[in-house]
Order: sequence, then C-alpha cells, then structure tokens
Amino acid sequence: MIQNKFSEAMAFRHACKIFDEKKKIDEETLYYILEAGRLSPSSFGMEPWKFLVISSSTHKEALRPLCWDQAQTTSCSHLIILLAAIESVKPQSGIPQQRFARRHLSPAQIDAYISRYSSFLKETFESDERTFAWSSKQCYIALANMMQAAAFEKIDSCPIEGFEKEKVEAYLKIDTTQYQVAVIVALGYRQNEQGEHLRLPFEEVVTFME
Ligand SMILES: Cc1cc2nc3c(=O)[nH]c(=O)nc-3n(C[C@H](O)[C@H](O)[C@H](O)COP(=O)(O)O)c2cc1C
Repeated sequence: MIQNKFSEAMAFRHACKIFDEKKKIDEETLYYILEAGRLSPSSFGMEPWKFLVISSSTHKEALRPLCWDQAQTTSCSHLIILLAAIESVKPQSGIPQQRFARRHLSPAQIDAYISRYSSFLKETFESDERTFAWSSKQCYIALANMMQAAAFEKIDSCPIEGFEKEKVEAYLKIDTTQYQVAVIVALGYRQNEQGEHLRLPFEEVVTFME
C-alpha cells in the first residue's frame, strides 16, 4: 500500500549527521530527487526557487566552515542549496505575468491575477528581506518533498539552516538582488544507524474542532 510506503519513508528519514563518504548518489536518483523539488507546489504557482547542486569536495570543504563546521557538509554525496527568488517574484519584473500566462488565460484574467497577487503581496515586495521570507517559505516545501523523495529511495538527508547566509552567498558568488540562500540539504548514505525519532504526542499537536 502506498500509505505504508509513505510511512516507511517517514520512519526512514532522519536528520543524518554523518554520511558514508564512499557512497555517492547515482545520477538517475539525484535527478528524481531534484524533480520532486521542481514539481512542488508554490504560492500562486510562482516557483520562486533555484536548486544549486554541489558535488565537488573542494566546494564542500570550503562551505563547511560557513555551515557551523557541520560534518554533513563534507561527508555527504551532494549538497543542494535552495535559492529563494527575490527580483523575479516582483510584479515589475514581468515574470509573474509569464507564470500566470502559462494557464492559458485571457489577458483580462491575467490582469485580474496580477492585481490580486500584487495587492496580496504588496507589503512583502516592499523590502527584499520580506520577499526573501515569502520565497523561502516556498523553498521549504520543495525541501520537504526532496527529503521525502530521497527517503523513498533509501537516500539519507539532513536539512541545514545552520549556516552563515551572507558568507555562503559570497562564496557562491550569488547576486543577492536576484536570489538568496533559503536553506541547504545534504544528501547521501548514512554512516551510522539513526537515533530515535523524538516527537510530541498526537493529542498535543492535533486539535479537532467541535
Ligand atoms: C529547516 C531545518 C533546518 C535544520 N537545520 C539543521 C542543521 O543545520 N543541522 C542539523 O544537524 N540539523 C538540522 N535540522 C535537523 C533537525 O534538528 C531535526 O530534523 C529534528 O531534530 C528532528 O530530528 P529528525 O529529523 O532526525 O527526526 C534542521 C531541520 C530543519 C527542518
């Protein structure tokens, strides 16, 4: 049953702290994981992301001190840097119009979408900081799907928020007016058995409204 497979993948996934450096993810599986990110949903269908794939040990070693010296960054097979779009999500860039136009809408309908989009996100687009926060939220959906897709294929992962954003962006020579680093995910094969999953009880997390 697919439900069991999903639960199995949920149980398999954990934040892997150290990967087996000898094991590398094959290209087909890597593409499958990246596709899970690409196919993820996003608010207004903006897809405000890019995925930067790093496999070279030179880059991994250079990034490690900028990522709180975490061993995941060098022991993993691949590091995926999820970049949140800044300029292209703003209505004046013309890109949101292109995204809406894919829906085969009439010009009047596209105008209506742009108007709703622009007014809903007016305050968001007033600063790059807020724009980054909004785009990053979408990136985290892609992150979750990539980790879950990886777990289906028995590939381990570790989401990484522990990094110095400006330094990572400088190292990667990212034009931060266009994109900024939202989150990183390390992918590979576990070195050690995973620890216990620590989670709050169901009743504490879920409330059914009367
Ligand atoms: C967005 C996000 C960022 C995280 N950043 C880090 C990190 O920088 N380093 C790390 O070791 N774990 C990181 N984690 C892993 C969490 O600590 C871990 O998911 C949580 O403790 C639950 O453990 P589990 O994933 O093994 O079930 C991050 C998790 C998420 C969701």
